[in-house]
Amino acid sequence: MSTGFVSVAYVVASVLFILSLGGLSHQESARRGNFFGIAGIIIAVGATIASVSMGAGGIASLVIAILIGAAAGMFLANKVEMTQMPQLVALLHSFVGLAAVFVGFAGYLDPLVITHGAEHTIKLVEVYLGIFIGAITFTGSLIACGKLDARIPSAALTLPGRHIMNLAALGVSVLLGAWFLGADSTAEGMLPLIIMTAVASVLGIHLILAIGGADMPVVVSMLNSYSGWAAASIGFMLGNDLLIVTGALVGSSGAILSYIMCRAMNRSFMSVILGGFGQTTSSSSATAADSDLTVQECSVDDLCEELGMAESVIIVPGYGMAVAQAQNAVGEITSLLRDRGVTVRFGIHPVAGRLPGHMNVLLAEAKVPYDIVLEMDELNDDFPTTDIVLVIGANDTVNPAAMDDPNSPIAGMPVMEVWKSGQVVVFKRGMASGYAGVENPLFFKENTRMLFGDAKESVDKILGALRS
Ligand code: TAP
Repeated sequence: MSTGFVSVAYVVASVLFILSLGGLSHQESARRGNFFGIAGIIIAVGATIASVSMGAGGIASLVIAILIGAAAGMFLANKVEMTQMPQLVALLHSFVGLAAVFVGFAGYLDPLVITHGAEHTIKLVEVYLGIFIGAITFTGSLIACGKLDARIPSAALTLPGRHIMNLAALGVSVLLGAWFLGADSTAEGMLPLIIMTAVASVLGIHLILAIGGADMPVVVSMLNSYSGWAAASIGFMLGNDLLIVTGALVGSSGAILSYIMCRAMNRSFMSVILGGFGQTTSSSSATAADSDLTVQECSVDDLCEELGMAESVIIVPGYGMAVAQAQNAVGEITSLLRDRGVTVRFGIHPVAGRLPGHMNVLLAEAKVPYDIVLEMDELNDDFPTTDIVLVIGANDTVNPAAMDDPNSPIAGMPVMEVWKSGQVVVFKRGMASGYAGVENPLFFKENTRMLFGDAKESVDKILGALRS
Protein backbone atom coordinates (compact mmCIF):
# COMPACT_ATOMS: atom_id res chain seq x y z
CA MET A 1 0.00 0.00 0.00
CA SER A 2 1.36 3.46 -0.85
CA THR A 3 2.47 5.81 1.93
CA GLY A 4 -0.33 8.22 0.97
CA PHE A 5 -3.03 5.58 1.50
CA VAL A 6 -1.52 4.55 4.82
CA SER A 7 -1.47 8.19 5.99
CA VAL A 8 -5.12 8.66 4.98
CA ALA A 9 -6.06 5.42 6.77
CA TYR A 10 -4.22 6.62 9.90
CA VAL A 11 -6.03 9.97 9.83
CA VAL A 12 -9.41 8.22 9.43
CA ALA A 13 -8.55 5.85 12.31
CA SER A 14 -7.47 8.79 14.52
CA VAL A 15 -10.75 10.61 13.84
CA LEU A 16 -12.71 7.42 14.64
CA PHE A 17 -10.82 7.08 17.94
CA ILE A 18 -11.70 10.68 18.87
CA LEU A 19 -15.37 10.06 17.94
CA SER A 20 -15.22 6.87 20.00
CA LEU A 21 -14.02 8.73 23.10
CA GLY A 22 -16.72 11.35 22.56
CA GLY A 23 -19.37 8.61 22.23
CA LEU A 24 -18.20 6.77 25.34
CA SER A 25 -18.70 9.86 27.50
CA HIS A 26 -22.52 9.47 27.46
CA GLN A 27 -24.67 6.40 28.10
CA GLU A 28 -26.92 7.11 25.11
CA SER A 29 -23.99 7.24 22.68
CA ALA A 30 -21.71 4.64 24.33
CA ARG A 31 -22.72 1.83 21.93
CA ARG A 32 -21.99 4.07 18.94
CA GLY A 33 -18.67 5.05 20.56
CA ASN A 34 -17.72 1.37 20.80
CA PHE A 35 -18.48 0.83 17.11
CA PHE A 36 -16.33 3.84 16.15
CA GLY A 37 -13.49 2.38 18.23
CA ILE A 38 -13.84 -1.07 16.64
CA ALA A 39 -13.89 0.44 13.13
CA GLY A 40 -10.85 2.60 13.96
CA ILE A 41 -8.81 -0.32 15.24
CA ILE A 42 -9.70 -2.52 12.23
CA ILE A 43 -8.59 0.26 9.83
CA ALA A 44 -5.43 0.91 11.88
CA VAL A 45 -4.37 -2.75 12.04
CA GLY A 46 -5.25 -3.33 8.36
CA ALA A 47 -3.30 -0.28 7.15
CA THR A 48 -0.29 -1.13 9.33
CA ILE A 49 -0.14 -4.71 8.03
CA ALA A 50 -0.56 -3.52 4.43
CA SER A 51 2.20 -0.92 4.84
CA VAL A 52 4.87 -3.40 5.92
CA SER A 53 6.41 -5.75 3.41
CA MET A 54 6.64 -9.16 5.03
CA GLY A 55 6.86 -12.66 3.68
CA ALA A 56 4.30 -15.45 4.00
CA GLY A 57 6.01 -16.52 7.25
CA GLY A 58 5.58 -13.03 8.72
CA ILE A 59 1.90 -12.88 7.80
CA ALA A 60 1.31 -16.38 9.18
CA SER A 61 2.91 -15.54 12.54
CA LEU A 62 0.94 -12.26 12.67
CA VAL A 63 -2.37 -14.06 12.02
CA ILE A 64 -1.56 -16.69 14.66
CA ALA A 65 -0.70 -13.97 17.21
CA ILE A 66 -3.94 -12.07 16.45
CA LEU A 67 -6.00 -15.28 16.73
CA ILE A 68 -4.43 -16.22 20.08
CA GLY A 69 -4.94 -12.66 21.40
CA ALA A 70 -8.54 -12.51 20.16
CA ALA A 71 -9.37 -15.93 21.66
CA ALA A 72 -7.85 -14.95 25.03
CA GLY A 73 -9.74 -11.63 24.94
CA MET A 74 -13.08 -13.28 24.12
CA PHE A 75 -12.56 -15.91 26.81
CA LEU A 76 -11.80 -13.26 29.45
CA ALA A 77 -14.64 -10.96 28.37
CA ASN A 78 -17.14 -13.81 28.68
CA LYS A 79 -15.79 -15.10 31.96
CA VAL A 80 -15.15 -11.91 33.92
CA GLU A 81 -17.96 -10.58 36.12
CA MET A 82 -18.77 -6.87 35.97
CA THR A 83 -17.46 -6.56 39.54
CA GLN A 84 -14.07 -7.94 38.42
CA MET A 85 -13.72 -5.45 35.58
CA PRO A 86 -11.35 -3.02 37.37
CA GLN A 87 -8.77 -5.74 38.04
CA LEU A 88 -9.06 -6.91 34.41
CA VAL A 89 -8.52 -3.33 33.20
CA ALA A 90 -5.49 -3.02 35.49
CA LEU A 91 -4.13 -6.33 34.13
CA LEU A 92 -4.60 -5.13 30.55
CA HIS A 93 -2.72 -1.91 31.38
CA SER A 94 0.17 -4.06 32.58
CA PHE A 95 0.33 -5.69 29.11
CA VAL A 96 0.74 -2.25 27.49
CA GLY A 97 3.57 -1.47 29.92
CA LEU A 98 5.28 -4.80 29.21
CA ALA A 99 4.89 -4.24 25.46
CA ALA A 100 6.59 -0.84 25.80
CA VAL A 101 9.51 -2.49 27.63
CA PHE A 102 9.89 -5.22 24.97
CA VAL A 103 9.58 -2.79 22.05
CA GLY A 104 12.09 -0.49 23.74
CA PHE A 105 14.71 -3.23 24.07
CA ALA A 106 13.99 -4.53 20.56
CA GLY A 107 14.19 -1.00 19.12
CA TYR A 108 17.53 -0.43 20.84
CA LEU A 109 19.12 -3.75 19.85
CA ASP A 110 17.80 -3.80 16.29
CA PRO A 111 16.64 -0.28 15.26
CA LEU A 112 14.17 -0.09 12.37
CA VAL A 113 15.51 3.34 11.45
CA ILE A 114 19.26 4.13 11.55
CA THR A 115 19.81 7.59 13.04
CA HIS A 116 22.85 9.82 13.55
CA GLY A 117 23.89 12.85 15.60
CA ALA A 118 21.16 14.74 17.49
CA GLU A 119 18.47 12.54 15.93
CA HIS A 120 20.20 9.48 17.41
CA THR A 121 20.29 11.07 20.87
CA ILE A 122 16.54 11.85 20.64
CA LYS A 123 15.92 8.23 19.61
CA LEU A 124 17.89 6.95 22.61
CA VAL A 125 15.95 9.25 24.96
CA GLU A 126 12.68 7.87 23.51
CA VAL A 127 13.87 4.29 24.08
CA TYR A 128 14.95 5.10 27.63
CA LEU A 129 11.74 6.94 28.57
CA GLY A 130 9.55 4.31 26.88
CA ILE A 131 11.16 1.51 28.89
CA PHE A 132 11.07 3.58 32.11
CA ILE A 133 7.33 4.41 31.83
CA GLY A 134 6.58 0.90 30.55
CA ALA A 135 8.29 -0.83 33.50
CA ILE A 136 6.49 1.38 36.07
CA THR A 137 3.17 0.76 34.30
CA PHE A 138 3.79 -2.99 34.13
CA THR A 139 4.60 -3.66 37.79
CA GLY A 140 2.31 -0.89 39.13
CA SER A 141 -0.65 -2.31 37.21
CA LEU A 142 0.05 -5.83 38.46
CA ILE A 143 0.01 -4.55 42.06
CA ALA A 144 -3.21 -2.57 41.38
CA CYS A 145 -4.76 -5.74 39.93
CA GLY A 146 -3.71 -7.71 43.04
CA LYS A 147 -5.16 -5.04 45.36
CA LEU A 148 -8.45 -4.79 43.51
CA ASP A 149 -8.72 -8.58 43.47
CA ALA A 150 -8.05 -8.66 47.24
CA ARG A 151 -4.96 -10.84 46.71
CA ILE A 152 -2.84 -8.02 48.17
CA PRO A 153 -4.09 -6.05 51.23
CA SER A 154 -5.71 -2.77 50.10
CA ALA A 155 -4.17 -0.79 53.00
CA ALA A 156 -1.45 1.68 52.04
CA LEU A 157 2.11 0.48 52.68
CA THR A 158 3.76 3.51 54.30
CA LEU A 159 7.43 2.68 54.72
CA PRO A 160 9.45 5.26 56.67
CA GLY A 161 11.27 7.56 54.24
CA ARG A 162 9.25 6.31 51.30
CA HIS A 163 9.30 9.65 49.47
CA ILE A 164 13.10 9.76 49.79
CA MET A 165 13.24 6.20 48.38
CA ASN A 166 11.09 7.22 45.40
CA LEU A 167 13.20 10.31 44.79
CA ALA A 168 16.38 8.21 45.08
CA ALA A 169 14.99 5.77 42.47
CA LEU A 170 14.26 8.72 40.16
CA GLY A 171 17.75 10.16 40.75
CA VAL A 172 19.41 6.81 40.05
CA SER A 173 17.35 6.48 36.84
CA VAL A 174 18.53 9.93 35.67
CA LEU A 175 22.19 8.99 36.35
CA LEU A 176 21.73 5.65 34.56
CA GLY A 177 20.20 7.62 31.66
CA ALA A 178 23.35 9.76 31.41
CA TRP A 179 25.47 6.57 31.39
CA PHE A 180 23.19 5.06 28.74
CA LEU A 181 23.38 8.13 26.47
CA GLY A 182 27.18 8.25 26.79
CA ALA A 183 27.69 4.54 26.02
CA ASP A 184 30.04 3.85 23.09
CA SER A 185 28.39 0.64 21.97
CA THR A 186 25.02 -1.11 22.14
CA ALA A 187 26.53 -3.77 24.40
CA GLU A 188 27.74 -1.10 26.85
CA GLY A 189 24.33 0.68 26.77
CA MET A 190 22.49 -2.53 27.71
CA LEU A 191 23.83 -2.56 31.29
CA PRO A 192 22.36 0.83 32.42
CA LEU A 193 19.17 0.00 30.50
CA ILE A 194 18.70 -3.30 32.34
CA ILE A 195 19.50 -1.75 35.74
CA MET A 196 17.07 1.13 35.08
CA THR A 197 14.36 -1.38 34.11
CA ALA A 198 14.83 -3.15 37.45
CA VAL A 199 14.78 0.17 39.37
CA ALA A 200 11.65 1.38 37.52
CA SER A 201 9.93 -1.98 38.16
CA VAL A 202 10.56 -1.71 41.91
CA LEU A 203 9.45 1.96 41.81
CA GLY A 204 6.17 0.91 40.13
CA ILE A 205 5.54 -1.71 42.86
CA HIS A 206 6.34 0.72 45.67
CA LEU A 207 4.32 3.62 44.22
CA ILE A 208 1.11 1.57 44.02
CA LEU A 209 1.65 -0.34 47.29
CA ALA A 210 1.75 3.08 49.03
CA ILE A 211 -1.73 3.98 47.78
CA GLY A 212 -4.64 2.98 49.99
CA GLY A 213 -8.04 1.52 49.17
CA ALA A 214 -9.98 4.80 49.00
CA ASP A 215 -7.70 6.10 46.27
CA MET A 216 -7.78 2.99 44.07
CA PRO A 217 -10.25 4.45 41.52
CA VAL A 218 -7.82 7.23 40.76
CA VAL A 219 -4.97 4.74 40.55
CA VAL A 220 -6.79 2.70 37.90
CA SER A 221 -7.36 5.73 35.69
CA MET A 222 -3.83 7.01 36.39
CA LEU A 223 -2.39 3.69 35.21
CA ASN A 224 -4.68 3.96 32.20
CA SER A 225 -3.01 7.30 31.51
CA TYR A 226 0.51 5.84 32.01
CA SER A 227 -0.29 2.99 29.62
CA GLY A 228 -1.31 5.61 27.01
CA TRP A 229 1.96 7.48 27.37
CA ALA A 230 3.85 4.17 27.21
CA ALA A 231 2.03 3.41 23.92
CA ALA A 232 2.88 6.91 22.61
CA SER A 233 6.53 6.31 23.43
CA ILE A 234 6.38 3.02 21.48
CA GLY A 235 4.95 5.07 18.59
CA PHE A 236 7.98 7.39 18.70
CA MET A 237 10.37 4.42 18.80
CA LEU A 238 8.67 2.74 15.83
CA GLY A 239 8.14 6.00 13.94
CA ASN A 240 4.39 5.20 13.87
CA ASP A 241 2.26 8.39 13.89
CA LEU A 242 -1.01 6.60 14.62
CA LEU A 243 0.40 4.96 17.74
CA ILE A 244 1.64 8.36 18.94
CA VAL A 245 -1.84 9.90 18.42
CA THR A 246 -3.65 6.94 20.00
CA GLY A 247 -1.25 6.80 22.95
CA ALA A 248 -1.65 10.55 23.51
CA LEU A 249 -5.47 10.19 23.39
CA VAL A 250 -5.43 7.39 25.98
CA GLY A 251 -2.79 9.18 28.07
CA SER A 252 -4.63 12.50 28.17
CA SER A 253 -8.13 11.03 28.61
CA GLY A 254 -6.82 8.91 31.53
CA ALA A 255 -5.23 12.02 33.05
CA ILE A 256 -8.47 14.02 32.65
CA LEU A 257 -10.48 11.17 34.23
CA SER A 258 -7.99 11.01 37.13
CA TYR A 259 -8.45 14.75 37.62
CA ILE A 260 -12.26 14.47 37.56
CA MET A 261 -12.17 11.62 40.09
CA CYS A 262 -9.74 13.50 42.35
CA ARG A 263 -12.14 16.43 42.30
CA ALA A 264 -15.06 14.07 43.08
CA MET A 265 -13.15 12.79 46.12
CA ASN A 266 -11.80 16.26 47.04
CA ARG A 267 -8.22 14.96 46.81
CA SER A 268 -5.26 16.56 45.15
CA PHE A 269 -3.70 14.53 42.37
CA MET A 270 -0.24 14.84 43.92
CA SER A 271 -1.39 13.58 47.32
CA VAL A 272 -2.93 10.53 45.62
CA ILE A 273 0.24 9.75 43.67
CA LEU A 274 2.43 10.26 46.73
CA GLY A 275 0.18 7.77 48.52
CA GLY A 276 -0.37 6.86 52.14
CA PHE A 277 -4.07 7.75 52.21
CA GLY A 278 -7.06 5.50 52.60
CA GLN A 279 -5.67 2.77 54.78
CA THR A 280 -8.15 0.83 56.88
CA THR A 281 -8.82 2.80 60.02
CA SER A 282 -11.42 3.11 62.69
CA SER A 283 -10.51 6.62 63.81
CA SER A 284 -13.87 7.94 62.72
CA SER A 285 -16.05 9.45 65.45
CA ALA A 286 -19.01 7.06 65.26
CA THR A 287 -17.72 3.56 65.76
CA ALA A 288 -20.34 1.03 66.73
CA ALA A 289 -17.91 -0.80 69.02
CA ASP A 290 -17.00 2.09 71.31
CA SER A 291 -20.38 3.74 71.56
CA ASP A 292 -23.89 2.81 72.60
CA LEU A 293 -25.35 3.75 69.24
CA THR A 294 -27.97 1.37 67.94
CA VAL A 295 -29.44 0.81 64.54
CA GLN A 296 -33.13 0.51 63.66
CA GLU A 297 -34.22 -2.35 61.44
CA CYS A 298 -36.87 -2.21 58.77
CA SER A 299 -39.11 -4.97 57.42
CA VAL A 300 -40.04 -5.56 53.79
CA ASP A 301 -43.73 -5.09 54.57
CA ASP A 302 -43.21 -1.75 56.32
CA LEU A 303 -41.09 -0.51 53.47
CA CYS A 304 -43.64 -1.54 50.85
CA GLU A 305 -46.38 0.26 52.75
CA GLU A 306 -44.26 3.43 52.94
CA LEU A 307 -43.30 3.19 49.29
CA GLY A 308 -47.01 3.01 48.49
CA MET A 309 -47.56 6.36 50.20
CA ALA A 310 -44.38 8.09 48.97
CA GLU A 311 -44.47 10.75 46.26
CA SER A 312 -40.74 10.92 45.60
CA VAL A 313 -38.09 8.23 45.94
CA ILE A 314 -34.36 8.39 45.22
CA ILE A 315 -32.37 5.17 44.81
CA VAL A 316 -28.64 5.40 45.57
CA PRO A 317 -26.89 2.26 44.31
CA GLY A 318 -23.37 1.18 45.21
CA TYR A 319 -20.94 -1.69 44.94
CA GLY A 320 -23.25 -4.05 46.89
CA MET A 321 -25.92 -3.79 44.20
CA ALA A 322 -23.34 -4.93 41.65
CA VAL A 323 -22.16 -7.84 43.83
CA ALA A 324 -25.73 -8.97 44.46
CA GLN A 325 -26.65 -8.50 40.76
CA ALA A 326 -29.80 -6.75 41.96
CA GLN A 327 -29.99 -4.20 39.13
CA ASN A 328 -32.72 -5.93 37.10
CA ALA A 329 -35.04 -6.31 40.07
CA VAL A 330 -34.28 -2.69 41.06
CA GLY A 331 -35.21 -1.68 37.50
CA GLU A 332 -38.52 -3.56 37.79
CA ILE A 333 -39.37 -1.93 41.14
CA THR A 334 -38.64 1.42 39.52
CA SER A 335 -41.08 0.90 36.67
CA LEU A 336 -43.76 -0.44 39.07
CA LEU A 337 -43.46 2.65 41.28
CA ARG A 338 -43.39 5.00 38.28
CA ASP A 339 -46.54 3.33 36.94
CA ARG A 340 -48.18 4.19 40.25
CA GLY A 341 -47.23 7.86 39.87
CA VAL A 342 -44.23 7.91 42.24
CA THR A 343 -41.30 10.09 41.10
CA VAL A 344 -38.29 7.75 41.13
CA ARG A 345 -34.74 8.92 40.41
CA PHE A 346 -31.29 7.38 40.77
CA GLY A 347 -28.37 9.24 42.35
CA ILE A 348 -24.94 8.19 41.10
CA HIS A 349 -21.79 9.13 42.99
CA PRO A 350 -18.79 9.54 40.66
CA VAL A 351 -16.87 6.72 42.42
CA ALA A 352 -19.80 4.44 43.32
CA GLY A 353 -18.91 0.82 42.66
CA ARG A 354 -15.46 -0.20 41.58
CA LEU A 355 -14.85 1.59 38.31
CA PRO A 356 -15.97 4.80 36.65
CA GLY A 357 -19.48 4.47 35.22
CA HIS A 358 -20.02 1.07 36.97
CA MET A 359 -23.53 1.93 38.19
CA ASN A 360 -24.55 3.57 34.90
CA VAL A 361 -23.66 0.40 32.99
CA LEU A 362 -25.65 -1.81 35.38
CA LEU A 363 -28.70 0.47 35.27
CA ALA A 364 -28.54 0.67 31.48
CA GLU A 365 -28.45 -3.15 31.44
CA ALA A 366 -31.61 -3.12 33.61
CA LYS A 367 -33.25 -0.75 31.08
CA VAL A 368 -33.65 2.10 33.58
CA PRO A 369 -34.41 5.25 31.52
CA TYR A 370 -31.32 7.47 31.20
CA ASP A 371 -33.19 10.65 32.12
CA ILE A 372 -33.89 9.48 35.70
CA VAL A 373 -30.25 8.51 36.34
CA LEU A 374 -28.65 11.66 37.74
CA GLU A 375 -25.20 12.64 38.93
CA MET A 376 -24.51 13.50 42.59
CA ASP A 377 -24.28 17.25 41.88
CA GLU A 378 -27.62 17.24 40.04
CA LEU A 379 -29.43 15.58 42.93
CA ASN A 380 -27.80 16.59 46.23
CA ASP A 381 -30.05 19.64 46.68
CA ASP A 382 -33.20 17.51 46.20
CA PHE A 383 -32.79 15.18 49.19
CA PRO A 384 -34.60 17.49 51.69
CA THR A 385 -37.74 17.30 49.52
CA THR A 386 -37.54 13.52 49.01
CA ASP A 387 -39.76 11.13 51.00
CA ILE A 388 -37.66 7.96 50.93
CA VAL A 389 -34.08 7.21 49.86
CA LEU A 390 -33.17 3.59 49.19
CA VAL A 391 -29.41 3.08 49.62
CA ILE A 392 -28.75 -0.22 47.88
CA GLY A 393 -25.29 -1.61 48.62
CA ALA A 394 -23.66 1.83 48.91
CA ASN A 395 -21.63 2.84 51.94
CA ASP A 396 -18.60 5.18 51.58
CA THR A 397 -20.43 7.31 49.02
CA VAL A 398 -23.25 8.11 51.51
CA ASN A 399 -21.05 8.55 54.61
CA PRO A 400 -21.80 11.83 56.46
CA ALA A 401 -18.44 11.56 58.27
CA ALA A 402 -16.88 12.88 55.06
CA MET A 403 -18.59 16.21 55.84
CA ASP A 404 -18.86 16.17 59.64
CA ASP A 405 -15.68 14.53 60.89
CA PRO A 406 -12.41 16.29 59.96
CA ASN A 407 -10.46 13.28 61.31
CA SER A 408 -12.19 10.80 59.03
CA PRO A 409 -9.93 9.35 56.32
CA ILE A 410 -12.56 10.39 53.78
CA ALA A 411 -12.97 13.92 55.23
CA GLY A 412 -13.74 16.42 52.48
CA MET A 413 -14.89 13.82 49.95
CA PRO A 414 -18.21 14.97 48.46
CA VAL A 415 -20.95 12.45 49.31
CA MET A 416 -24.63 11.91 48.50
CA GLU A 417 -26.41 13.76 51.34
CA VAL A 418 -29.09 11.09 51.75
CA TRP A 419 -29.65 11.74 55.49
CA LYS A 420 -31.33 15.06 54.62
CA SER A 421 -34.33 13.21 53.17
CA GLY A 422 -37.46 12.15 55.06
CA GLN A 423 -36.38 8.55 55.52
CA VAL A 424 -33.38 6.44 54.54
CA VAL A 425 -33.46 2.68 54.15
CA VAL A 426 -30.04 1.02 53.78
CA PHE A 427 -29.90 -2.38 52.08
CA LYS A 428 -26.83 -4.37 53.19
CA ARG A 429 -25.96 -7.72 54.72
CA GLY A 430 -24.48 -6.59 58.04
CA MET A 431 -22.62 -3.71 59.65
CA ALA A 432 -19.41 -4.13 57.61
CA SER A 433 -17.66 -0.99 56.41
CA GLY A 434 -17.22 -0.10 52.75
CA TYR A 435 -14.13 -0.14 50.57
CA ALA A 436 -12.39 2.70 52.42
CA GLY A 437 -12.73 0.76 55.69
CA VAL A 438 -14.47 3.64 57.47
CA GLU A 439 -17.40 3.39 59.93
CA ASN A 440 -20.60 5.02 58.69
CA PRO A 441 -22.60 7.23 61.15
CA LEU A 442 -25.50 7.25 58.64
CA PHE A 443 -26.60 3.83 59.93
CA PHE A 444 -27.20 5.29 63.41
CA LYS A 445 -29.19 8.36 62.38
CA GLU A 446 -32.77 8.75 63.60
CA ASN A 447 -34.31 8.71 60.14
CA THR A 448 -32.24 5.71 58.95
CA ARG A 449 -33.38 2.09 59.04
CA MET A 450 -31.46 -0.97 57.94
CA LEU A 451 -32.88 -3.69 55.70
CA PHE A 452 -30.38 -6.48 56.37
CA GLY A 453 -29.78 -9.23 53.83
CA ASP A 454 -28.44 -9.79 50.35
CA ALA A 455 -29.58 -6.86 48.21
CA LYS A 456 -30.98 -9.13 45.47
CA GLU A 457 -33.04 -11.16 47.95
CA SER A 458 -34.39 -8.03 49.66
CA VAL A 459 -35.24 -6.33 46.37
CA ASP A 460 -36.92 -9.52 45.08
CA LYS A 461 -39.08 -9.68 48.22
CA ILE A 462 -40.10 -6.03 47.78
CA LEU A 463 -40.89 -6.65 44.14
CA GLY A 464 -43.07 -9.65 45.03
CA ALA A 465 -44.89 -7.68 47.74
CA LEU A 466 -45.45 -4.65 45.48
CA ARG A 467 -46.82 -6.88 42.72
CA SER A 468 -49.26 -8.60 45.03
P1 TAP B 1 -18.69 0.55 49.32
O1 TAP B 1 -18.38 1.73 50.17
O2 TAP B 1 -17.56 -0.33 48.94
O3 TAP B 1 -19.80 -0.30 50.12
C1 TAP B 1 -20.41 -1.39 49.52
C2 TAP B 1 -21.36 -1.98 50.56
O4 TAP B 1 -22.11 -2.98 49.90
C3 TAP B 1 -20.64 -2.65 51.71
O5 TAP B 1 -20.75 -1.88 52.87
C4 TAP B 1 -21.33 -4.03 51.84
O6 TAP B 1 -21.83 -4.17 53.16
C5 TAP B 1 -22.47 -3.95 50.85
N1 TAP B 1 -22.66 -5.22 50.15
C6 TAP B 1 -21.73 -6.04 49.62
N2 TAP B 1 -22.30 -7.11 49.06
C7 TAP B 1 -23.63 -6.97 49.24
C8 TAP B 1 -24.77 -7.77 48.90
N3 TAP B 1 -24.64 -8.94 48.24
N4 TAP B 1 -25.98 -7.32 49.24
C9 TAP B 1 -26.14 -6.16 49.93
N5 TAP B 1 -25.10 -5.36 50.27
C10 TAP B 1 -23.87 -5.77 49.93
O7 TAP B 1 -19.45 0.98 47.99
P2 TAP B 1 -19.78 2.41 47.38
O8 TAP B 1 -20.61 3.23 48.29
O9 TAP B 1 -20.26 2.11 46.01
O10 TAP B 1 -18.38 3.15 47.34
C11 TAP B 1 -17.38 2.78 46.43
C12 TAP B 1 -16.07 2.66 47.17
O11 TAP B 1 -15.19 1.92 46.35
C13 TAP B 1 -15.44 3.99 47.45
O12 TAP B 1 -14.67 3.94 48.63
C14 TAP B 1 -14.52 4.16 46.26
O13 TAP B 1 -13.45 5.04 46.51
C15 TAP B 1 -14.05 2.73 46.07
N6 TAP B 1 -13.63 2.41 44.71
C16 TAP B 1 -14.29 2.96 43.66
C17 TAP B 1 -13.86 2.72 42.38
C18 TAP B 1 -14.59 3.45 41.26
S1 TAP B 1 -13.80 4.16 40.12
N7 TAP B 1 -15.88 3.54 41.28
C19 TAP B 1 -12.77 1.84 42.14
C20 TAP B 1 -12.14 1.22 43.26
C21 TAP B 1 -12.58 1.53 44.54
P3 TAP B 1 -22.11 -5.63 53.77
O14 TAP B 1 -20.85 -6.42 53.60
O15 TAP B 1 -22.49 -5.38 55.20
O16 TAP B 1 -23.25 -6.21 52.99
